Order: sequence, then C-alpha cells, then structure tokens
Amino acid sequence: MTGATGAARALARCDALAELSSLPGAVERVSFSPEHRGANALVGGWMAEAALLVRQDAAGNVCGRLEGERPGLPALVLGSHLDTVTDAGRYDGMLGVLLAIEVADRIDTRSLPFALEVIGFTDEEGTRFGNALFGSRAFAGRVGDDWLATPDRKGVTVAQAMTGFGLDPTSIGDAARRPEDLVGYLETHIEQGPHLLDAGRSLGVVTAIAGARRFALQVTGRAGHAGGTPYARRRDAAVAAAEIVIAVERISIETGTIGTVGRIRAFPGGVNVVPGVCRFSLDLRAEQDEQRDAAFARIDAAAREVCERRGVTWSWEELYRADATTCDPALVAAIESGIRAAGDDEPMRIWSRAGHDGMAVTDVTGIAMLFLRCGNDGISHHPDETVTEADTADALEAFAAAVLAVADQHRA
Ligand code: GLV
Ligand code: MN
Ligand code: MN
Repeated sequence: MTGATGAARALARCDALAELSSLPGAVERVSFSPEHRGANALVGGWMAEAALLVRQDAAGNVCGRLEGERPGLPALVLGSHLDTVTDAGRYDGMLGVLLAIEVADRIDTRSLPFALEVIGFTDEEGTRFGNALFGSRAFAGRVGDDWLATPDRKGVTVAQAMTGFGLDPTSIGDAARRPEDLVGYLETHIEQGPHLLDAGRSLGVVTAIAGARRFALQVTGRAGHAGGTPYARRRDAAVAAAEIVIAVERISIETGTIGTVGRIRAFPGGVNVVPGVCRFSLDLRAEQDEQRDAAFARIDAAAREVCERRGVTWSWEELYRADATTCDPALVAAIESGIRAAGDDEPMRIWSRAGHDGMAVTDVTGIAMLFLRCGNDGISHHPDETVTEADTADALEAFAAAVLAVADQHRA
C-alpha cells in the first residue's frame, strides 16, 4: 500500500473505532468495558489481516507480532493506546496504533534483525480509575496490588473490572516484558498542541515527555443556609476553592509549569446551601520534575494561606505520579532519519506536554516518539481533534523509515 492509501485506511479505521463508545453521539471508551472488548476485537482483526500473530495479554492490551529474519528475536515494539478521555476526539492514541499496523503491513519483516510487535495499550488516560498508564505499566511489570484495589466511581475495583472482562488479576505479572526481549519502543501520536501547526511542520521528533502529578484536593468548611448565614460567619468551601484555582493558574504561569483543575464539585450541592465541602482535581506537569514539584509546594502554601484566612481546612491526596522521560538518543536519531525520508531535512524537536505510554515503557526499554500536527488550533481531548490525510501520510512514511533506520543501527 502507498503512504497515501495506508493513511486513508488508518483514518477510516479511527472513524470505525469512534463508533465504539459508551456515550451516545460522543466518544468515550474506558478500560475493561464492552467498548474496550470491541476495540480489541476490531484492532486484533486488522492486525491479523496484516498477518500479525494476535493475542490479548494479561492486562487487556492487544498485541500482534511479526517475526524478523528468524523466529524468536527481541522485538521492536510500535504502539499507542485504544482508550479515551470523556467526550474525546478520535485520534489521540488510536491513530498511533493504526499507523503501526500500516507500518507492519508495508515492511517485509523477514529481512529485519528483530521481530516487530504492535500494541494497543489499555487505559493510558486513567479515565475510569484515575490512575493512568495501566496497560503500559503492566508491560513494564509495575502494576502492584494497590493499583488493582483502586475503585472506579461506582466502587468497582480494577481487579473486579478485569475479572468481568475475562482476565485474571492475579496473573497481571504475565503482561510484563523482559528488557532482553525488547529492542525499543516507537510511538506515533498527534501533538495535542499547536507547536507544529505554528511552525508550519507536519512532523516533529519528541525529545522528552513531561512528568505529571495528579491530586485530589479538598477544602472543608461548614454548610449553612444560603439566606440565613451572614458573610462574616460563612465558611464557604467553594469560594476558598475558587481562590485556590486562581492561584494554580498564577503559580503555573510564573513557574513555567502547566496546572489544570479539570474537575470541581461542591457539596452538599444545593442551590440554597452554602457549600460545606469542595472537592477538585489538579493535574500538574512540566519538562523538569523539580520545576513541577516546586510549583506544587507553592500551590500548597498558597492554598494553606487561603484556607487559614477563610477559616476552612485544606487537604490533598496524590493519585498519580509519572516522572519526566528522556527519549533514547539512538531511537530519536532513527525518528529524525524517518522525518528526513518523509521530506523534511531539518526535523523539529519538541518536548511532549501530554503524557504517553512511553513514560511507562521506558522502565524496560528505550523509547522515542514521532509527533504529527493537529489541526484546529492544536485542540485535543475534545471532539474537534483533527489531522489531515496528507500529514498522516507523511507520518506513515516517517514511521516506516524510522523502523528501517533502527534495523540499520542494529546491523552496524
Ligand atoms: C494523556 O493524554 C495526558 O497527557 O493526560
Ligand atoms: Mn490523551
Ligand atoms: Mn494519547
């Protein structure tokens, strides 16, 4: 298949996957759901059409393999994730898996000094259980009992959800890979921001992935009558939280970190009741972990000051932490050579503000990423996420050429 035809097919498959959604008229596909099962079946079928040997691993990741010049060689793994955020676009994750299948379809792997594997990871986003990178952490052998005991909003734990999906949570260790069985991990992903768009480039090479921490924050005050409680006597948790949200933005801008409060709820939630409790989330990321951690220390101090002044109390719990990841220099060079093969002589370097499965996979093998331009002002985690077929064709050319460049490195 040519780059253009392969790109068109990958995009049509993104449309087909978008139909597997738990929300009418919108996209949401969370781990261990009927939609997850459907996506693994569809993607597994496309892998099989491309002659890959397909299986679902102990974490619910769908994996396909093509042998190299002889059976049993360590594998170069190409992949991304098949789960989504709520009211998602149709390219974040999925496009990387589908382009990996196109690469596997184009390359004659019998001349490669390694096997080629394609993986569709489960639960990169953490939409259901709050803790992201489940499938790729399992691939790296880093899912412990605490994680399996984490409940979703309905109280169903990861272990229970896995059992309902037909997996055995006590066998999660079987999803773990050994470094000696791996050559490296390459992922193609939409940029999820406007940097390539602003630079007029279709492709970029990722040098590092930002480290992220996610917190559950809480302000506790005292509920009371909306009419009868004088201002001087109120301990309004939502107003204190509002001040803290403003402080998150100010401190993030001042420290060059990226802080987002994406979820906020006031309790008891009556229109005529002063909020007694406010629970909200914080997602904090930066290129350097020290920068991110220093920003959180300032946010914590600012929140204490607000809460003391307002006579309410402040508490937080850390739900997720992934440190910044540096991409492997040899694999970065392979991606750069792929971008050159696709016609751009000066590959643009970029650090990823979004999290990716590579942050987990890096514990067992080197990783690198190829970014492709998002349209629509770079919007992502939104139904208006978009890419062009021409950029997707460039990405496919570059991705396939990067695999061949890794093969050249291995032969040298
Ligand atoms: C995943 O998309 C993340 O960066 O939160
Ligand atoms: Mn995402
Ligand atoms: Mn993603």
